[in-house]
Amino acid sequence: MPEQVLPVALTVNGAAHRVQVPSRRLLSDCLRHDLRLTGTHVGCEHGVCGACTVLLDGVPVRSCLVLAASADGAEVTTVEGLGTEEALSPEQQAFRECHALQCGFCTPGFLTTVRAYLDDHPDPTEEEAREAVAGNLCRCTGYQGIVRAVLRAAEIRREREVAP
Ligand code: FES
Ligand code: FES
Repeated sequence: MPEQVLPVALTVNGAAHRVQVPSRRLLSDCLRHDLRLTGTHVGCEHGVCGACTVLLDGVPVRSCLVLAASADGAEVTTVEGLGTEEALSPEQQAFRECHALQCGFCTPGFLTTVRAYLDDHPDPTEEEAREAVAGNLCRCTGYQGIVRAVLRAAEIRREREVAP
């Protein structure tokens, strides 16, 4: 029997999209293949590495564990929605300043995770920053730069808040 195809409406990075997807299509594949938003990376496809993390109605989720059809009506933020090349988000600026990436494969998942974390915890300690990214795997950096970047991103957010 052919797989059922379902209509799905998503708002991604502020833009409304309507797609027809097979019922078992993963949100990660829908973003990458149907919407061509390839900033969301797929590593393990088992919910382990965190590379595919996006914000679903503001909450970080592993998009490889979410069916696109179950996200119908949701607001999704991917790494493309955090900032632009001309105006980096605090997380992006901090990762750049702190050399918190090497190959960059894991980075989109870290950036979205850190965005959601800092929304709720604007002034983390170093230990809290380490804990915040403990569920994301990076095979290159050794995490020191990433933890520094979480703290620096928090600082940049505060600086931007007080800037005129
Ligand atoms: S690809 Fe989704 S958690 Fe690894
Ligand atoms: S920078 Fe290469 S996996 Fe993290």
